Amino acid sequence: MTDTYDPDANSKGCYDLAIATMREKLESFPVVKIGDCTLYQGDCRELLPLLPRVDAVVTDPPYGIKQANGFGGFGGFGGMGSPIARRQYDGQWDDDRPAPSTFFAVLKAAPVHIVWGGNYFADMLPVGRKWLFWDKCQTMPTYSDGEMAWTSIDGVATKRIVYSNNGLMAREKGRVHPTQKPVEVIKWSIGHLPEPHNKTILDPFMGSGTTGVACVKLGRKFIGIELEPKYFDIACRRIEEAYKQPDLFIEAEKEKPPEQEVLL
Ligand SMILES: C[S@@+](CC[C@H](N)C(=O)[O-])C[C@H]1O[C@@H](n2cnc3c(N)ncnc32)[C@H](O)[C@@H]1O
Repeated sequence: MTDTYDPDANSKGCYDLAIATMREKLESFPVVKIGDCTLYQGDCRELLPLLPRVDAVVTDPPYGIKQANGFGGFGGFGGMGSPIARRQYDGQWDDDRPAPSTFFAVLKAAPVHIVWGGNYFADMLPVGRKWLFWDKCQTMPTYSDGEMAWTSIDGVATKRIVYSNNGLMAREKGRVHPTQKPVEVIKWSIGHLPEPHNKTILDPFMGSGTTGVACVKLGRKFIGIELEPKYFDIACRRIEEAYKQPDLFIEAEKEKPPEQEVLL
């Protein structure tokens, strides 16, 4: 019997098998497609290696400050007592920060990135020169004045958006995720992505789907991943609702842009 080894055919066979295995694994995750948005329910550590590269990652990973426990995360209100006022949220989703290997996979997914809460992950991210700052117009002395996003965008100017986060009780009523970002803040962040890396955007820690809603409003493609089924369902509903809003793009154009300042 003459059985000749063909290295080209062998490597093609291995490649085809690897692709088929990855496709099968990807298809095993619950997925919902709404317009230009593809939403996966599952662990981004498993899903990221199975997805194609995108233009940009815009995300807001768990900070590991135990937000699910309300004010109790750092030992209570101002570090002095038990949780009060703020709602308790289900799940252990904010008990730990993502591991360095997860950030490695997140960075590999795209050439450009915006990571909210970047100051919590500075030890795991490359040096970033252009940071974004959301000034919440905070009036409570024990709260943060704002939040910071690490970016891998070229340039040195740190930018600030001023967007009120006051009215705690009213905000808590309408809020469906404990660390839900305002859509306006995420739209503003996406506006900093350089051409051509701003068409298809991935959020591997989607939460209630704010990045997806911002992408719908800006006419971008979106891929979202969320671990918790409850927040995944909320994200699907919010993105569906965003598509239903009339005159989406006209409305977005008419909106007064939030105030922005150069900090550095
Ligand atoms: C800080 S929240 C994002 C909130 C979001 N920006 C919003 O506006 O709703 C982080 C989310 O990441 C999810 N998460 C945590 N670990 C994950 C993982 N390994 N894969 C996918 N999602 C994860 C949590 O369930 C949580 O909803």
